[in-house]
Amino acid sequence: MKQIRKAVFPVAGLGTRFLPATKASPKEMLPVVDKPLIQYAAEEAETAGVDQLIFITGRHKRSIEDHFDKAYELEAELESAGKTELLKMVQNILPSDVGCVYVRQAEARGLGHAVLCAKGVVGDEPFFILLADDLIRGHGKGVSGQMADIYARHECSVLSVQEVPREDTRQYGIVEVEPGPGGLLRVVSIVEKPAPADAPSNLAVVGRYLLTPRIFDMLEQTDTGAGGEIQLTDGIAALLEYETVIAHPFEGKRYDCGSKLGYLEATVEYGLAHPELGEQFAAFLRAFRD
Ligand code: G1P
Repeated sequence: MKQIRKAVFPVAGLGTRFLPATKASPKEMLPVVDKPLIQYAAEEAETAGVDQLIFITGRHKRSIEDHFDKAYELEAELESAGKTELLKMVQNILPSDVGCVYVRQAEARGLGHAVLCAKGVVGDEPFFILLADDLIRGHGKGVSGQMADIYARHECSVLSVQEVPREDTRQYGIVEVEPGPGGLLRVVSIVEKPAPADAPSNLAVVGRYLLTPRIFDMLEQTDTGAGGEIQLTDGIAALLEYETVIAHPFEGKRYDCGSKLGYLEATVEYGLAHPELGEQFAAFLRAFRD
């Protein structure tokens, strides 16, 4: 049984839904309370057992590399100021046994193309893909951990899904499912951003994928699709001809932090749950409402 050791983070996108905040800094670096979105995603992958983080980056994404790199000046200053707690925090952004690889996607040709850029680094192993702007507070081991458990039992690709309002199908990959192995749902078809009238269901793929390496062969043969881009969804549709793909209605709550409203919701909920700020923030909100 292959352990899932690698996670791919496509972070080359422009973040146009969040302009002007994302004009000069990546949407993945937007903080929710005190941590950037990309760090929440990295921590989720680590909890699921991943020890190699593969970032598919583009122009203006240097701050992501800096975030996971050693910060000599900052560390020296914190040390000389005796701020040991803060020093420990910045030194432990990543556990020491977790490594990072950065692959540059020179042209923004779509999510499928971004994933294909990871082929050489992933090799012949199953791997996760995490879209950091989908922030998911997953129950238990996190949503990636839940997917790893399914892989451990069935050795097949897994997509996390959730029901969305019919009128929103144009924003997602949408799956059609049937009963599959072990009481799970097997994907029968998948289509990228269908109009509500054409959608096979209202079950949407969220930004968590666990895929077998055959996806790379599929993506190499995938033409441009919706929006003129090479779509991961179309690669997965081709994969269905060869392999079982499971749809996993994850246990947890998702915040669409690529949208301003989803980001505000996440900020409020993570603020309320914050160990140091939660109580004071709740008091502020109560006073604000009255
Ligand atoms: C991407 C995928 C889509 C998926 C969505 C989840 O779309 O192409 O299939 O449902 O992420 O967030 P994007 O949000 O990049 O337009």
